[in-house]
Formats: sequence, structure tokens, C-alpha cells
Amino acid sequence: MWKEKLINFAKRFEHTAWGMSHFTRVYELTLKLADMRKLEIDQESLFAAAYLHDMGAFDPYRKKDIDHAEASANSCEEVLKSLGFPPEKIDKVKDIIRTHMYYAEPSGQIESVLFRDADILDFMGIIGIIRILSIVGKDTWAPNLNSAINLIRNFDKTLIHKLSSDQAKEIGVKRRGEMKAFLENLSEQTNKFKLL
Ligand SMILES: [Fe+2]
Ligand SMILES: [Fe+2]
Repeated sequence: MWKEKLINFAKRFEHTAWGMSHFTRVYELTLKLADMRKLEIDQESLFAAAYLHDMGAFDPYRKKDIDHAEASANSCEEVLKSLGFPPEKIDKVKDIIRTHMYYAEPSGQIESVLFRDADILDFMGIIGIIRILSIVGKDTWAPNLNSAINLIRNFDKTLIHKLSSDQAKEIGVKRRGEMKAFLENLSEQTNKFKLL
């Protein structure tokens, strides 16, 4: 069964911010968004995309000067073919992967739109905060604590406006509230972030 094989393959992507648990969270949240809207979506393509969408952020799939989403889309075909995934669905998977980042233009395909929303939501709220704090000093996204807090402040301001579906916006408002409370308390406790 290709799903089991895919999970086994994806286990190698160990990461506190973009590893297995992130893949599963985003898969499940996309299903929830579709369900809230009573939409039928292609769950097989979604599953495949969820577990491979960030593979381009890992060696040996990472490519210099190529965005990880593009690198993931380029690498997923060979993997999926080797696992026995239905080949006619590979283009759909690639579209989901290629357009998943908050800075990408949303696709016209519903699975891609909802998956992108779910990936954005995983950068918001308590989960978004702990993911970013977990990579302090380990990734160019957050070389130190100050830059991590700046990134969270930036996400608090901008990510809600990147969401496409009303269902994701509803969850986004709640998650933004969590970020706001965190940032307000942190500001008060660190003399406006000066004592971080
Ligand atoms: Fe990504
Ligand atoms: Fe992701």
C-alpha cells in the first residue's frame, strides 16, 4: 500500500518545525477545512502532497537557489512513482506542493488552496510560536532569539491576510489572538522586547 510506504519514506524528514508531525497536522487540518465546507476533495493527492511538500528543505533534495517548494515538487514524482502512487494524480500533487507557501500565489485547485491555508495556519497560534522557537540558532529563518520574535511579530501582522478560505480565516482569527496575547505579555516582561 503506497500510503504506508510513503509514511516510511517521510520518516527520514526529522525536524521540529517542518518534519513528520507538521506533515500530519497540515494533512488533518486541510481535511478539517474541507469538512467545514462540506467539500469533497481528493484525499489521495492531499496525503501524498502533505508528506512530501517540504522534502526540498532536506538534503539531498535541497537545491541551492531553488525554493524548497519548487525543489519538493520536482523531486516528488520519482518518489511517488516508486511507491505505486496513481500516476494520473501526480500533476495535482505537484500543484499542491508548488503553491503551498504563504508567499506563493494561490492555485485555482481547491486541494491546493486549502492545503496552503493549513500550512499557513501551522505558522500561527501557539503551534506557530513553538515551531519558530524550536529552530532558533538552527536555521536562517531564526538565527537567534531576537530574530525569532521578530518573525513571530511579522507573522502576527501578515499571515491572516494570506489566508484564502473563510474557514481558515475563522481559525486564523483565533490563532492570531494567541499570538497577540503572547507578544503583549512578552513585550511587558522584556521592556518592549529590549531585554530578550
Ligand atoms: Fe514549506
Ligand atoms: Fe510545510
